[in-house]
Amino acid sequence: METLQKLYKHLEKIYHFNSVVSLLSWDQETYMPERAFEHRSQQMGLMASLIHQLKTTELQEILKDINLNELQRRDFLIVKRVKQDLDKWSKIPEKLAVQLTEVTSQAQYYWDKAKKNDDFDTFAPYLEKIVSLKIEEAHCLGFEQNPYDALLEDYEKGLKASDFEKVIRPIVEEFYQKKSNSVLTTNPFKCTIPAYEQLKFANQFIQDLGFDFRRGRQDISSHPFSNAISIHDIRITTRIMEEDLQYMLYSTIHETGHALYEMGLNTELLGTPYSETCSLTIHESQSRFWENNIGRSLPFCKFLASKLQEYLPQYFSEVSPEALFYTLNEVKPNFIRTESDEVTYHLHIALRFELERDLVNQVIQVKDLPTLWKEKMQSYLGIIPPNDSLGVLQDVHWSAGLIGYFPTYSLGSFYAAQIYSHLKSLYPDFDFHIEKGNFDFIHQWLKENIFSKGRMFYSHEILQQATGNPLLPNAFKDYITSKLELV
Ligand code: CO
Repeated sequence: METLQKLYKHLEKIYHFNSVVSLLSWDQETYMPERAFEHRSQQMGLMASLIHQLKTTELQEILKDINLNELQRRDFLIVKRVKQDLDKWSKIPEKLAVQLTEVTSQAQYYWDKAKKNDDFDTFAPYLEKIVSLKIEEAHCLGFEQNPYDALLEDYEKGLKASDFEKVIRPIVEEFYQKKSNSVLTTNPFKCTIPAYEQLKFANQFIQDLGFDFRRGRQDISSHPFSNAISIHDIRITTRIMEEDLQYMLYSTIHETGHALYEMGLNTELLGTPYSETCSLTIHESQSRFWENNIGRSLPFCKFLASKLQEYLPQYFSEVSPEALFYTLNEVKPNFIRTESDEVTYHLHIALRFELERDLVNQVIQVKDLPTLWKEKMQSYLGIIPPNDSLGVLQDVHWSAGLIGYFPTYSLGSFYAAQIYSHLKSLYPDFDFHIEKGNFDFIHQWLKENIFSKGRMFYSHEILQQATGNPLLPNAFKDYITSKLELV
């Protein structure tokens, strides 16, 4: 069908434009010289304007000639989703899309500066602009009661703030009391290893997990991220603390989980929902699955111990898998979300979720954030960060306009727990394979049951198809309870 081919060609064109934007943004966060940031934000703004036209007026013109009822199943699923995308994209005026892109591009520069200098005021005016543009966006997109719902929807279709509260509250209540189980063990990760040796180790280790360097690379940035520039060019970043290998290693495993998802997507029909990732929830389920469910398990610690001895023998001539396991599963409040254990992590998410929701509802203001952050840290985690760099300035998300993103970390973790226990029930020798570093069967299962579905289904549909169940309320609780019994 000619119009269908025309649609696919057009979507591929958008894909190429988006991949140029991804490359610009990767460069900005890694190697771009400081003074280039103004010009970069103009480049990004121009790209946003071009892409907006492609995604709205031009796309609409092509779609109007396609009749859903005449399509084969795969084409039907793709076109159905693209029509929904068009509806959504058309609600955002071009001017707003450009403004958001320009401001967030600048804001990331000022956030980075503010974080380095522990100076929230440098960043505050940019965050104010972002919040007001996001409120405008929420009104353009539409919502029933809560404007924050319109933003959540961008990351997880159908998710409402009130639903998330219901999911997260029991976790907060349940684990609030259990937040410290300090295990007495020496932390094997604490030894001074120069940055270049850590990076070399990471490069070797992530290949063992399945990362393909012919289609990706790893660099350093202020906040670890993964950025799929194209299907064959997936870039991840990490950060290094020379006296603690865990700091680099577990953010690397997290980003590798994201990269493995992107590397396992369908390679045909680029730019269509057939070859795209489903949602941020599924994305974070993959990163958190490798970082936590696999990465903090005892069998994995046995594998990790053998690799530490092999790749870094001068630091790890002897290392006990049990000591790694206890260290990695110590439940202890941390100022930093990305360094938190699997339990207290969700208290960090609850805190951010509440602040975002209240900002978008204009119940609180940007200038109140540093104080509110400390108050909530005290009430949820019992610790108060000594400065804003270790507090409200720690995450890149708000500077990038990613308001409504944080809940997907918790949801993703709950999805991951369910996927993990399903896999363990399918493969009786699961632990044995992990211990030996044989991950191929997992890659294959994930590809077949999750990656190959692209974005043709919603997250909850994919979870149901993959595990035979909707999100089970106890999936995470059962997983973490049985884990904590071991430590
Ligand atoms: Co992530």
